[in-house]
Amino acid sequence: MAEFRPQLANILIIDDQEHNISLLKRMLVKAGFQQLYGTQDPFEIDRLLDEVSPDIILLDLHMPGMDGIEAVGKIRSRQGEDTYLPILMLTADNTSKAKQEGLQVGVDDFLTKPFDRTEVVLRIRNLLRTRFLHKQLQAQNERLEQHVRERTARLQQAQMETIRLLARASEYRYDDTGTHTLRVGKLTGLVAELLGFPPDFVERISLAATLHDIGKIGIPDHILLKPGGFDPEEFELMKQHTIIGANILQNSSFDVLKMAETIARHHHEKWDGSGYPAGLRGKEIPIEARIVALADFYDAVTHERPYKKAWSHEEAVAEIMRQRGKHFDPQVADRFLEVLELTGVQ
Ligand SMILES: [Fe+2]
Ligand SMILES: [Fe+2]
Repeated sequence: MAEFRPQLANILIIDDQEHNISLLKRMLVKAGFQQLYGTQDPFEIDRLLDEVSPDIILLDLHMPGMDGIEAVGKIRSRQGEDTYLPILMLTADNTSKAKQEGLQVGVDDFLTKPFDRTEVVLRIRNLLRTRFLHKQLQAQNERLEQHVRERTARLQQAQMETIRLLARASEYRYDDTGTHTLRVGKLTGLVAELLGFPPDFVERISLAATLHDIGKIGIPDHILLKPGGFDPEEFELMKQHTIIGANILQNSSFDVLKMAETIARHHHEKWDGSGYPAGLRGKEIPIEARIVALADFYDAVTHERPYKKAWSHEEAVAEIMRQRGKHFDPQVADRFLEVLELTGVQ
């Protein structure tokens, strides 16, 4: 912890009477203070606040041109909200009206002329101590805030990594690199951005999208890895991955997992209502699921799986255009094709 050394404080004296300034300076030098600055011109305040960065200001109440009350207003208006810069008002006017007025505009204490040396030194020292404690508290708060920021960042990182691992586990049986989920997350985020969603939404959907197929954990190998098409019964079972996924993710208190639940449940809905599991149509389908539907479709068809060959980029794009307004939300499909063009994904 820093040490309280009032002698090193910057003391600024503003008084139109030169002899008041030199008197105060003499008193303070005798008391051991070393950094004393004075001006007779209150219009110098702005410049001196910058140059001297005072720790305390001794300010005369009655000055020609700008009186002390006005000067206090000027000083306070330039101060940051968290700064404690004590102002000690110098006055021969000992009436309570003058004091009330001073206190109202933000004066911290008064020194009555003629000055009493002991009183001058003690009042200055007290105010400097308060300023010192205030600064220490501020520094401590900043350290704490920094600590909280670091901890929060670590927690977010932990959450992100856990979601990534979960996503990877969910597709491990048919994509042991886990790159499908990552690519879907990335494409989804880019489309959301192009659709004008704010950065926090984009970040959330990029992460949540990676869990879209987590329900496949519950689909048996002989169906999940079956080459060729499914018979109707197998297809009904396969469709269950949406419900299973939503069940796995349900009841989370985290926004990203809530969104992941919605995506898992609805990423196979189709714009024309012919999808599953709920048969939602158009804008009934949550937007996050409409975006993932495209990213998932494109990435799945353009990559080889144990049970199917990969389509070319052109074939996938042609199919998306054909399915615009049928399988896919037309507006999202347009943005999706723009993303493919912009990023040169092929
Ligand atoms: Fe799926
Ligand atoms: Fe997928």
